[in-house]
Amino acid sequence: MMYNLLKGKRGIIFGALDENSIAWKTAERVHEEGGVFVLSNAPAAMRLGNISDLALKTGAQVIPADATSVTDLEKLIEQAMDILGGKIDFVLHSIGMSVNVRKGNHYTNQNYDFTQKGWNVSAVSFHKVLQVLYKKDAMNEWGSIVAFSYMAAQRVFPDYNDMADNKAFLESVARSFGYFFGRDKKVRVNTISQSPTATKAGQGVKGFNGFIAFADKMAPLGNASALDCANYTVSMFSDLTKMVTLQNLLHDGGFSNVGVSQEVMEMFE
Ligand code: NAI
Repeated sequence: MMYNLLKGKRGIIFGALDENSIAWKTAERVHEEGGVFVLSNAPAAMRLGNISDLALKTGAQVIPADATSVTDLEKLIEQAMDILGGKIDFVLHSIGMSVNVRKGNHYTNQNYDFTQKGWNVSAVSFHKVLQVLYKKDAMNEWGSIVAFSYMAAQRVFPDYNDMADNKAFLESVARSFGYFFGRDKKVRVNTISQSPTATKAGQGVKGFNGFIAFADKMAPLGNASALDCANYTVSMFSDLTKMVTLQNLLHDGGFSNVGVSQEVMEMFE
């Protein structure tokens, strides 16, 4: 369904790698809703994924940027304003990575160089994006900035490893920076805490298949898909959610408020 919710709005979408990426679905939905944007991803991701297909489909330009590099982000944001013809209304940070997860290091046996790289990519990068936007006064009033999180920031999911800490850090940055962005520029900053979703990053987590099936059986509505998440994000970029800020918004089919579901109970009876 199309509602033209983002007509006249300009944005930056980080993190579309392939068709499964939540950012990919979001870019498609934003395009359908009339928003224009530039796509960005890490230079290495240009080789791995097929972002140029998405760019073609949505009429977007791609600007490579390592989200941990302030210099890259400064260039990206300047170029995005030039290309789009004005200040920015919406930004999606859909970036996450843990080297400990990738290398199979257990939470109790981390390599701290990897740990540092993980929180730099997954959480500090969000602070950097916010700080560059803030200092350049690049956001329009009532603009909206969203980053994606996961519930392991609040509850234990043993195999989520150090990404749990990275997400707690990310959510805290959204609140802390969101305060200043709201007070000084009337811009809102939120995180959306999404159900497990079968993407490149998601499938990197050990035991992912069990994890996603369990969440689906627990949640009264089942797991939220990447497309559902894209739709929710569109609503957060629209003027319909103008007064929502500093929130961690749970987008999980109700999973987070269920102690145990009937279906899961039956497995133990
Ligand atoms: P994905 O693998 O498609 O996206 C992750 C993106 O991060 C990739 O495009 C990757 O190139 C980018 N990235 C990594 N390092 C970067 C850097 N230095 N600079 C710029 N970009 C960089 O996977 P997915 O699942 O779409 O992930 C998007 C976000 O959603 C992440 O923050 C992830 O943690 C979050 N999330 C994912 C869930 C899942 O189960 N898939 C559940 C809840 C949240």
